Amino acid sequence: MTFEPVTTNLAVLNLSFLLHPLDTLPITAPLSYAIYQGCFSPLSNTPGPFLASLTRWWLAKLSVAGNYNTFMASLHNKEVSIADLTDIKQIYGFGSRFQESDWYGVWRGHRKFNVFGGQDMQVHALQRKLVARAYALESLEDLEPYVDRSIEVFMRKMHEQLDQEINMAEWAQLSLLTMEPSLLSQLTWLGQVPWLFWLYGLLIPYIGNYLGVNMRHGPLRDYALKAAAERQKWLAEKRDMIGRFFETSATKPEEFDYNAIVSMGTTNITAGSDTTAVSTRAIIYHLLKNRTVKQKLLEEIDELRRKGELGDPVRFDKANKMTYLQAIMQEGLCMHPAVGMNLPRVVPLGGTEINGHYFPEGSVLGVIAWVVHQNKDVYGEDADQFRPERWLKKDAHDMRKSNCKYRFFSFGGGSRSCIGKNIS
Ligand code: HEM
Ligand SMILES: *[C@@H]1O[C@H](CO)[C@@H](O)[C@H](O)[C@H]1NC(C)=O
Ligand SMILES: *[C@@H]1O[C@H](CO)[C@@H](O)[C@H](O)[C@H]1NC(C)=O
Repeated sequence: MTFEPVTTNLAVLNLSFLLHPLDTLPITAPLSYAIYQGCFSPLSNTPGPFLASLTRWWLAKLSVAGNYNTFMASLHNKEVSIADLTDIKQIYGFGSRFQESDWYGVWRGHRKFNVFGGQDMQVHALQRKLVARAYALESLEDLEPYVDRSIEVFMRKMHEQLDQEINMAEWAQLSLLTMEPSLLSQLTWLGQVPWLFWLYGLLIPYIGNYLGVNMRHGPLRDYALKAAAERQKWLAEKRDMIGRFFETSATKPEEFDYNAIVSMGTTNITAGSDTTAVSTRAIIYHLLKNRTVKQKLLEEIDELRRKGELGDPVRFDKANKMTYLQAIMQEGLCMHPAVGMNLPRVVPLGGTEINGHYFPEGSVLGVIAWVVHQNKDVYGEDADQFRPERWLKKDAHDMRKSNCKYRFFSFGGGSRSCIGKNIS
């Protein structure tokens, strides 16, 4: 986790000039191509590093390095163009025709049912509808006992270590599933050069599999398969997510088969565990760094305890009413978006104009939450400071501009926004 302060300025990043046949010929890059990209291409006057306009390896390298988020933020700081919520809505809003780019194909692999990586909009809409109920706010009540059980284990472990120095970052991660570390990083950089992923897939029978990425077809899938099979034995007894998926499968076996259940299980792990862990870590980190905030939270807890309004563990509906706690969590999510990459989308037929720049159809655009959230020029001097008060109704500074809730992008947007955000 990096916690460097970032200042930003341009929110929509043009990634389209990275899609080029040159990727396959990195050694023989013709000069004429460079000149074209620099001077004549429709995107030549879009700001950005020149090297990036020549090859996608530039992005892949940045993804491997792991500082994509902060680097992009520093880059935006130097640019002139300013983008805001209108641009986000234009690309990500409901009804937008911007489809997910090939970066997502690598996440999907060969799975037919994949809510996260499904690029085809119609197929995605159908699949998302099939699973939506399991993630809905109404379903949370059923899930609460399972979360409570984890909280009890977690609190017991904390009590055992009272007065000791403990690594909270590690504990936030441990309470969730820990993934093979190479999995996510490989998914992110391979997504920048998808052809390599597909080529590698063809070669696996001959050269063997050395990619952690394929964990989600191997060990991770096995894990989900085993969990699903185990779970199927006592379906009637438990109302949890997988139970709901089996219910859907029973009523719509054609559209939602056993593979789909397993796919939802692995997606749940890849999309839901590290993101939640990173966010929890960020919230705890910021909370511990600011004594004022911590003190105010303790007061809120004490007051509710005195009134006898907090159980142990605290129930979801009660926690929801703890306004300061909620503000802290929102601000933490805003300060440190778990997804540090942009969410790439393809410009639809006919091209589009965003913020004064024209992008031809097929170009790839993306918005990064890190850049949108901490843009001082647009959102004021304190945009990059942890200040939960800005989420409170009564905040004196509650101008639309300075409040992250009006540009909150940690969970993405529109029809592809995070389906697991309530659960998180
Ligand atoms: C704080 C925790 C989380 C954060 C910050 C987060 C963030 C995101 C973001 C930014 C997206 C949009 C990606 C895109 O546009 O490509 C997304 C999608 C998704 N998330 Fe989460 N997520 C979190 C927790 C979870 C959990 C717990 C689950 C599952 C139980 C989950 C499942 C999904 C799925 C299935 C999608 C794909 C939705 C679609 O394309 O229709 N996420 N998440
Ligand atoms: C998602 O993952 C968690 C953690 O392994 C598991 O308890 C839950 O049942 C999973 N949900 C689905 C639908 O697989
Ligand atoms: C601590 O938080 C308070 C309340 O949000 C804020 O006014 C103050 O500036 C913060 N202090 C630091 C050092 O960030």
